[in-house]
Amino acid sequence: MLLVTCYCFAGSGRMMPFFDTFSTTAEQGATYQLGLGIADITGPIVEINLMGYADSSQLGTGLHMRMRSRAFLVASEDLRDRWVLVNADICMGDTAVRLGVLEKLAELYPGLYTTQNVAIVGTHSHAGVGGYMQNVLPQITSRGFVRESYEAIVQGIVLSVQRAHESLKPGNVELGVTTLLDTNINRSPFAYSANPLEEREKYEYDQDKDLVLLRFADAKGSDRGFASFFSVHGTSLYRNNTLISGDNKGMAAYLYESFMEPDTPPGNNSFVAGFFQASVGDTSPNTEGAFCETGEDAGQPCTYENSTCNGQAQGCQGRGPGFRISDYESNRIIGYNQFQAAKKIMSSPTRALLSGNVRAVHQYVDMSEYKFKLSNGTDVSTCPPALGYGFAGGTSDGAGKFDFTQNRNGTEENLFWRYVKSGIGGQPTEAQAHCHLPKPILFNSGFAHKPYDWSPSIVDMQMFRIGETIILIVPAEFTTMAGRRLMETIKSELFTQGIVGEDARVILTGPANAYSHYVSTPEEYQIQRYEGASTLFGPWTLDAYKSIFTSLVSYVSDAAIPLPNPGPSPPDLRSEQKSFHLPVVSDAAPFGRAFGSVVHDIEENRTFYPGESVSATFQGANPRNNMRLEDTYLRVEVAEGTEWRTVRTDSHPSTLFEWTRTSTILGTSVVNITWVVEKHAQPGLYRIRYLGDSKSIWGRQPSPFEGVSSSFTVGV
Ligand SMILES: *[C@@H]1O[C@H](CO)[C@@H](O)[C@H](O)[C@H]1NC(C)=O
Ligand SMILES: *[C@@H]1O[C@H](CO)[C@@H](O)[C@H](O)[C@H]1NC(C)=O
Ligand SMILES: *[C@@H]1O[C@H](CO)[C@@H](O)[C@H](O)[C@H]1NC(C)=O
Ligand SMILES: *[C@@H]1O[C@H](CO)[C@@H](O)[C@H](O)[C@H]1NC(C)=O
Ligand SMILES: *[C@@H]1O[C@H](CO)[C@@H](O)[C@H](O)[C@H]1NC(C)=O
Ligand SMILES: *[C@@H]1O[C@H](CO)[C@@H](O)[C@H](O)[C@H]1NC(C)=O
Ligand SMILES: *[C@@H]1O[C@H](CO)[C@@H](O)[C@H](O)[C@H]1NC(C)=O
Repeated sequence: MLLVTCYCFAGSGRMMPFFDTFSTTAEQGATYQLGLGIADITGPIVEINLMGYADSSQLGTGLHMRMRSRAFLVASEDLRDRWVLVNADICMGDTAVRLGVLEKLAELYPGLYTTQNVAIVGTHSHAGVGGYMQNVLPQITSRGFVRESYEAIVQGIVLSVQRAHESLKPGNVELGVTTLLDTNINRSPFAYSANPLEEREKYEYDQDKDLVLLRFADAKGSDRGFASFFSVHGTSLYRNNTLISGDNKGMAAYLYESFMEPDTPPGNNSFVAGFFQASVGDTSPNTEGAFCETGEDAGQPCTYENSTCNGQAQGCQGRGPGFRISDYESNRIIGYNQFQAAKKIMSSPTRALLSGNVRAVHQYVDMSEYKFKLSNGTDVSTCPPALGYGFAGGTSDGAGKFDFTQNRNGTEENLFWRYVKSGIGGQPTEAQAHCHLPKPILFNSGFAHKPYDWSPSIVDMQMFRIGETIILIVPAEFTTMAGRRLMETIKSELFTQGIVGEDARVILTGPANAYSHYVSTPEEYQIQRYEGASTLFGPWTLDAYKSIFTSLVSYVSDAAIPLPNPGPSPPDLRSEQKSFHLPVVSDAAPFGRAFGSVVHDIEENRTFYPGESVSATFQGANPRNNMRLEDTYLRVEVAEGTEWRTVRTDSHPSTLFEWTRTSTILGTSVVNITWVVEKHAQPGLYRIRYLGDSKSIWGRQPSPFEGVSSSFTVGV
């Protein structure tokens, strides 16, 4: 990995005064009031589809790391203006989640946290619990809505905002940038190369390599945390992974937070490290490229134009930097690189101190028919949502493989899919087909409303400002060039209107608040690879964003101007949701064995050395009985005198929690807990504890139980 620090503000007349005052931050006092909060959002970790790859066979079997929500609250010194930017380890934001969070915040803090100033951004992890979104399309592989998943996410996001609110205190924000190489590649260079040569020549890379960071410090200048932004898909863990995880962004956050507070269990830290997604659309963390796995082409790179192997999309798989070992190793490396880049900025003396107003603006826009003029005066319109054939082909990261083909012979077991089949929007009208050209329509989702809307038409456009930094919050995955065009357009508009200087930084983050798939440039759209085929509102989608965000720019100016027209409210589909998940009926343990009893023990008093893995298997119960939010399903304990102290939990990436049903009829299951002893582990006497909850057919509430392994030694 290569890191190059960007002295992005050096030599700029306008920003120089900030440098002069930088070293005296402490004496200078505070410009803002800042709050940070972290909370657990992990829903049911087993038997539920993971969100992202849209593969119905990818059902959870346990836990790698808990999913978290991290909230960054910025307010003006007088607390009159504020915004809160939430970074959640979910694949993407969603209207149901956003409405649920806003309702609870309105009860807790009437009038403070609103549609305007709350943004919920997904880290785009493809290893989180699914089923939380309100539209049909993302629910097909999760067999409908999963209320426990939705509730864990809403409750945890609210808790993270509450914690941020309670921690509000004076402080300063600084902006830093560094170049981070070897951590993302363009997975659709064929589409990217359709962009004009003059435009491509303005950039050194076909991906954004900047990691941009906002450091939060208290009035004394001590670090409190940061929000960083870098474009890389959350697809380090492959689609055959079934353990819940935050993927590479969750890993980066864990690495930073545990670096700051090594003895604090993950999630109980006060330093909050946010790794936000940026223009994620055509990025991949699989930096070695995509290769064919089977058949005649095995070992060859997949085709450049369409990422196929042996003439098919299947079998083409991106390789991460640790692929010779595992996708988990790749995930660790991609997370580690982002952690290192953030650390580099945090320890560099060349950050710019921000000053200036705090502003937030939000507008709902119906993107199914947004009419506007292109810069040459031509009238154009977006189209009702539809996905092209390229969407079903997926990508070399393995995305987007719905189980539609299984459906053709009618023997599929997905009840939800069977239920909604009749609801697909039918044949597109000629006007709809024409509007999306050259996209051939596979799913006319804008016309599919049964049993409820398949795709959203009304989505969130949102913009936050802190001084000379502007954050564009988008409800989609922008490709690299699409993101660059939007950021440039808005930056120049901000400058033209005199709101910021030439050195202002515009940041783009998403997928946030709602999910409307991808946004590619019109040139990339002509290619109809996955990103173009998934550009939901047709060829003018990006230009529509440029038009809409341009119209919002004046609302972040220094003048106290009224809020914009809120736009049409998106439908709240929460009361209509269909679910085909059975609740946990009951758990049982075989005769003579209690829940938590050890089935395969650790050899007593055996010595384990760093790098070795220790595992114990217990008589288990379904973890869906209790999410154990803010808590853990396991503890690794070390002996201290006569006491046992917890040193690892289920959120340490060195531990794995795996659940297996051993009999569906009897309701029996086992839990396997593994700890890979790290290099820094202290020598001593250890044991592993399992914390479960079992449900009996008679009892209403699950009852907690515990199990403990034999003790073992960690040597040096
Ligand atoms: C998961 O998928 C990857 C990529 O296709 C493959 O290399 C690996 O062997 C698979 N792992 C398991 C456990 O099947
Ligand atoms: C993919 O592209 C290659 C090269 O352009 C072409 O030969 C092949 O037919 C294409 N395959 C599919 C499935 O579109
Ligand atoms: C305006 O630009 C669009 C997009 O490049 C193009 O399709 C259209 O023909 C142009 N119109 C005129 C009048 O030049
Ligand atoms: C239906 O399709 C599935 C998946 O492709 C296959 O396993 C099954 O054998 C097929 N059944 C019939 C009756 O063709
Ligand atoms: C394991 O070590 C403990 C403490 O040293 C000792 O009391 C116990 O007898 C040992 N057990 C075995 C099976 O060696
Ligand atoms: C975090 O701290 C709380 C309160 O001190 C405690 O109840 C909880 O168990 C801790 N979480 C973990 C995972 O140790
Ligand atoms: C428990 O997990 C470890 C590590 O994955 C594995 O080696 C072991 O075989 C598993 N044990 C059981 C009983 O599943």
